[in-house]
Amino acid sequence: MEIPQIRSEILQDSRLHWITVSSCTEVAAAGEDVIQGLSRPQKTLPCRYLYDDRGSALFEQICDLPEYYPTRTEQSILEAYAPEIAQLTGACELVELGSGSSRKTRLLLEAYQPLSHELHYCPIDVSAGILKSTALDLLTQYPTLRLCGLAGTYEQALAKLPPPVLDNRMLIFLGSTLGNLDEQVRHQFLVQIKQTLQPGEFFLLGVDLQKPIGLIEAAYNDAQGITAAFNLNLLQHLNQCFHGNFDWTQFRHLAFYNSDEHRIEMHLQSLISQTIDLKALGYQTCLRSGETIRTEISCKFHLPALTVELESHALQPLQIWTDPQAWFGLLLCQRQCIPGDCP
Ligand code: AVI
Repeated sequence: MEIPQIRSEILQDSRLHWITVSSCTEVAAAGEDVIQGLSRPQKTLPCRYLYDDRGSALFEQICDLPEYYPTRTEQSILEAYAPEIAQLTGACELVELGSGSSRKTRLLLEAYQPLSHELHYCPIDVSAGILKSTALDLLTQYPTLRLCGLAGTYEQALAKLPPPVLDNRMLIFLGSTLGNLDEQVRHQFLVQIKQTLQPGEFFLLGVDLQKPIGLIEAAYNDAQGITAAFNLNLLQHLNQCFHGNFDWTQFRHLAFYNSDEHRIEMHLQSLISQTIDLKALGYQTCLRSGETIRTEISCKFHLPALTVELESHALQPLQIWTDPQAWFGLLLCQRQCIPGDCP
C-alpha cells in the first residue's frame, strides 16, 4: 500500500504555507504505468510525461499560439464573468488543480478581493518549480493573499488538503484538463471531487467543446511546430527518467480527431523499425516502422452530456457560460446533498 510522505513548511513569508506530497512508491508505480502502456496492442504513454521543465515551458508557448484557441477563449469567458462567479459563491477559499502559472486565476483573485479582508488561495501542481515561482509572484502582487501551495498529483493533493480556513471553498479545474482523462479516470476524479467538497461548496470547471474538426485539428498541428516539439520532448523526458534509448529524430508527431470518441489523439509515429530499451525498468519493446504510441487524448465535450455526468457525481451546474461561438464552456457547479452525507 502506498504511504504518502508529506513535508509542510512555512516559507520566508508567513503568508505562504508549502506542502510537498510525494509517495515513496511513486517512481516504481510510474515505471509500471510506462511498461503497461507500451505492452498494449495500441501502445500508450502517460501524458504526465509531457510536463518536465521543458515540456511545461513549451505548453506555455502553445497557450499563446494563434491556432490554440482554448486558452484565450477561456480567458475571455473569465474576463467577462469572474465578478459574477464571485457574486454567486460569495467569499470563499480558492483551491486550484493544475494551477501552473495561475495566469487565468488572477482574474478570479481580482474578483474575490473585494469580498473579504483576506484572500485564500491553494494552488496544486505536480511541477514544484512553477508552483513556487508563481506563489512568490502572487504574494507580491496581492498584499492580502494567504497562499498554501501543494506540490503533488491531484489525487495525492486532494487527499491531503489542509482543513478549510473559510466556511466556503471552490475547487477550480481550468484549461479543459478534464479532457486529458479517459472515461474511467475521469469518473474516479469526479468521485474524489465529490468526496473533497462539503455540500454547498463549489466546483468551477473549464472545458473545450465539440466544434468543426478543422479548427480542433489545427490547434494540435500548429504551423510553428511547437506542439510537435512538446510531444517529442516526452521521449527525452522518458530517457532521463528511465535511462532510455528513444531517438526523437526517428519519430514524428501526429494529432488527429477521433470522431467516434470525440477527442483529439496525439501520437508519436516510429519512422523505422526499432527496439526501445528502458534500462532502469529492465524493459524492452519493439516498434514497427509506422507504428504509433498514443501520448495524449484531449476529449471535446457536449454540454448536455457533461451536465448529466456531473449531476451523477452530486455536482450540480448552477450556471454555464460560453464564448459567443460556443467553443469553450465554463461551468459553476455546486456540491449537492446526497442521502448519507447531509444532516
Ligand atoms: C493541458 N491540456 C488541456 C492540453 C490539451 O489541449 O489537451 C494539452 C495540450 N496538448 C497539446 N496541446 C495542448
